Amino acid sequence: MRSPSTLPAQTALVTGATRGIGLALVQALAARGDAAHGTCRTAPGPGPATWHRADVTDSAALQNLGQAWTSPLDLLVCNAGIYPGRGGTPDRGFPAEDWAAAFAVNVTGVFLTVQALLPALARAERPHIAIIASAMGSDARAPGGSYIYRASRAAALNLGRNLAADLAPHGIAVGILSPRLGPHRHGRRGRRARRGHFDPEPAGALRRARPCRYGLLRNHDGRPIPF
Ligand SMILES: NC(=O)c1ccc[n+]([C@@H]2O[C@H](COP(=O)([O-])OP(=O)(O)OC[C@H]3O[C@@H](n4cnc5c(N)ncnc54)[C@H](OP(=O)(O)O)[C@@H]3O)[C@@H](O)[C@H]2O)c1
Repeated sequence: MRSPSTLPAQTALVTGATRGIGLALVQALAARGDAAHGTCRTAPGPGPATWHRADVTDSAALQNLGQAWTSPLDLLVCNAGIYPGRGGTPDRGFPAEDWAAAFAVNVTGVFLTVQALLPALARAERPHIAIIASAMGSDARAPGGSYIYRASRAAALNLGRNLAADLAPHGIAVGILSPRLGPHRHGRRGRRARRGHFDPEPAGALRRARPCRYGLLRNHDGRPIPF
């Protein structure tokens, strides 16, 4: 089996690539010679990517992106995500608007992105979709707290597994990945600390993956996570 770095160059699109893990991913993909594309909501990120403006909660923007993408897309990484309602207890916090926002980005946004880019993926020889979820969505690891984020990640995992079943006959592999946890947190505050802490190996692991009946939740090092 060839190592990721010796695989032929591919075209990849990463959502939410302006900072954090998405930015590290487009940088890693570009560094190994792939045509790296990223989405941004407002200004382009600092990475070496080709930028496309799209909010993953805006189905019209995603449809426009999909229609404009007339070439093959080898790898789609659904990375855009939010983590509202970090604190709180079952009897306090976790307002309804935070639930709606998290599900709009972390679940519906993933589906709308995949749906819009399916024609471009179908043009590729060995297309892959990576859904960046989290081990926090695993039923087997439920220590309590972070209700909104955990529930949205569990839903994204379920979505990925069902997409894997539907898209396998079309030759499209779907992987659900939990990135390596760095000494950083979601959001702009952690931007400086997280630089250099993302291991791009999940992208390599995906490139070696074959379409399978069910999507797997995998850790950053490729080990399956129970769920
Ligand atoms: N950090 C961790 O330790 C960790 C652990 C497990 C899983 N994850 C997952 O990994 C992914 C990236 O995490 P991160 O720590 O890099 O997050 P981050 O630093 O907060 O960056 C999130 C990215 O998503 C974009 N985004 C947010 N809402 C969006 C929307 N509605 N439409 C399009 N883009 C949107 C942001 O764009 P703007 O710049 O426009 O806000 C930003 O580029 C997330 O899905 C997260 O749940 C992270």
